Amino acid sequence: MNQLLTIGELNTKQIQTILTLSEELSESNEPLLHGVNVGFVFEKPSLRTKVGTEAAINQLGGNVIEIDPDLLLANGKAVPFTCRESLKDAMMNVSQWCDAVFARVYSHATLEKMQQYGTIPVINALCNKHHPMQALADMLTIYGKFGSDNKAVITFIGDANNVAFSLTEIALILGHPVQFSGPTEYSWTNVQLQYFQLLAIQYGGEFIMIEDPYEAVRSSDVIYTDTFISMGEEYLYEEKIKHFESYQVNGKLFSTAPKTTGFMHCLPAHRGIEVTDEVIDHPNSWVYNQAKNRMIVSKAVFALILNPSFKQEFWPESMPVSESITVQ
Ligand code: CP
Ligand code: NVA
Repeated sequence: MNQLLTIGELNTKQIQTILTLSEELSESNEPLLHGVNVGFVFEKPSLRTKVGTEAAINQLGGNVIEIDPDLLLANGKAVPFTCRESLKDAMMNVSQWCDAVFARVYSHATLEKMQQYGTIPVINALCNKHHPMQALADMLTIYGKFGSDNKAVITFIGDANNVAFSLTEIALILGHPVQFSGPTEYSWTNVQLQYFQLLAIQYGGEFIMIEDPYEAVRSSDVIYTDTFISMGEEYLYEEKIKHFESYQVNGKLFSTAPKTTGFMHCLPAHRGIEVTDEVIDHPNSWVYNQAKNRMIVSKAVFALILNPSFKQEFWPESMPVSESITVQ
């Protein structure tokens, strides 16, 4: 494993390996990252990703070095002297001191440039299109509830955003049936829909769009939602929010699902908007398990990327998902 920008870089076996090693490392403080420096670059706020991952790296004996995003990322400012130096120079410098960079950025293209310009692995801590570390923690949560050979029906209600995309990818690569219910105005593009259908065919899962959330939840084992307004699109609030009214996960909607159905949310949640208190505080809500699992999967991912003997022992060499069906 040399980087992690998207879930689509991984195949079934590789995802299963990460999840199995996560379980094995959950309580471990083996010094697998002894002497390793990971640069953290966050262009947007973070609680779970930042603290959970730093805790994981600390537990395995590594160090986190926080890097001011303004020092590293030109943010597309082409005007001379509004940024200190080029991303290329900055990444080549960071590559002299750090063993990897964990970056949360506005644009996925920034991560690709960081990977291209530096000589160290880049791990995506969330961008506009993907949230792979969240998706891994979410699947670990679902495995914890239903077992590792489960084929739970996962239903995402709401916005076709970064979290929904990575969740859909990972669930389909593991052969799950996935349902999506959200307003057509903020739904998947045709290219994304084709990609999901191809993943479903390749891995034996299923991807279904269901406009009515009540119909969608009826046969769901997991109901997942996220904020309707993601970081960086706050300016769209007035325009966007009115389309999402009927997609709130509230008591009425949740009680339409089977009694064993779990509720998931990556957090931060906007209580009273995309989810109500009675659902997020319900005994079937797994949101804090998900948060705990953010730390646990980070241990496996960073050890697989940064500990050569661990990687050699555990990382399957098999080919990743065909690039021809990977969308960014
Ligand atoms: N779920 C998640 O990524 O949370 P943070 O934005 O707090 O990191
Ligand atoms: N979709 C949200 C996820 C936050 C973890 C955002 O991008 O802001």
